[in-house]
Amino acid sequence: MVGFRALVTGGAGFIGFGIVQALVTRGDDVCVLDNLDPRVHGNEILHFPERVRFVQGDVLSHSSLTDAFKEHVDVVFHEAAMVGLGRGGPDAEAYTSTNVIGTIRLMETIMKLRNSTRPRLVLASTMALYGEGAYVCDNCGKEREGSRRSDDLEKLKWDPFCEACGEPLKSRPVTENQTPRPRSVYAITKLNQELICMSLGREFKIPVVALRYHNVYGPRMPRDTPYAGVASIFKSRLLAGLPPILYEDGQQLRDFIHVNDIVQANLLAADAEEDKIVYEAFNVGTGRPHQIADFATELAKSLAPGVHPETPGLFRLGDVRHIFADVSKIERFGFKARVSFEQGVSEFAHESPRAAPKVVFS
Ligand code: UD1
Repeated sequence: MVGFRALVTGGAGFIGFGIVQALVTRGDDVCVLDNLDPRVHGNEILHFPERVRFVQGDVLSHSSLTDAFKEHVDVVFHEAAMVGLGRGGPDAEAYTSTNVIGTIRLMETIMKLRNSTRPRLVLASTMALYGEGAYVCDNCGKEREGSRRSDDLEKLKWDPFCEACGEPLKSRPVTENQTPRPRSVYAITKLNQELICMSLGREFKIPVVALRYHNVYGPRMPRDTPYAGVASIFKSRLLAGLPPILYEDGQQLRDFIHVNDIVQANLLAADAEEDKIVYEAFNVGTGRPHQIADFATELAKSLAPGVHPETPGLFRLGDVRHIFADVSKIERFGFKARVSFEQGVSEFAHESPRAAPKVVFS
């Protein structure tokens, strides 16, 4: 469906802005709702095309939401969220408020719309809600949870072992059927978002599709902040002439996916025939895992040849060992990641880091 009216919450953000650009390029009408949180945007200057309607406001604000839905909306891309590690502490309330209450307010606003057709909601979800990836014990021939004990980590034993026979487990691509075992407040709030949207969606006939993003990187990625993922952290260190620090042994597997491919998945989810996708969650990844060390080495090659990642034996409690996507389900609606690891990482190395916000219309 091209030529529709879209609302992008978080449309000034890393992924949201990519979705806005792609929609405008293909001729859709777009409204952006974004609070331009200074912790994320600093002094950044964003260039939105003139036909983008911009509502500066929060998903928690009833009046901003009402304003954003002033005109008819065919599809909502819900990207506004507080992201990052979210391991609890002082941020727990902020995660819950923005991600859970904000989503409930968005759904309430949609439920109150008087239009006969309710917009489709494409929800930004995350692989973080699974917790650990998928594992199998070849010795027992059974699937296993792959949990790790903190005293093993302290002994620098990184790989999960089978609880029954003690043999090391083999990692497998994670499918959408895996029982979620979220380990952070952030992941819990994202799982909540999915459950709330699916439940209210079914009840009030709002078609919902959830996209579980794997490790996204690319232009305009947030800088190195306490909320940043490993790609930003490595890049910031290399730009400062410092070696990336690999936790554990650097051999953790992740599915690094370029933001352009995340945008592609969002557009396909907005366009796909309803019976194929609604009230379903889909992994969005490349299906090709890479070690954290490969990302660091590839980035260093482009950014600071001669600087080598270091592996001092540190670890973060709560980190998962391996997680990467089984992408067979999302292929159902024609998705295939197009940006290769080598091309994506070398481009990412040379993009200027995110500056600081001021919105400009051209
Ligand atoms: C990340 C996000 C998570 C998001 C998910 C999917 C963060 C902090 N985590 O999960 O919220 O839902 O992707 O997009 O945004 N590491 C190092 N050195 C460092 C930093 C990290 O080796 O300096 C390692 C970590 O130990 C981990 C891996 O890199 O094994 C990935 O870390 P990170 O990007 O923080 O988080 P994920 O757990 O993959």
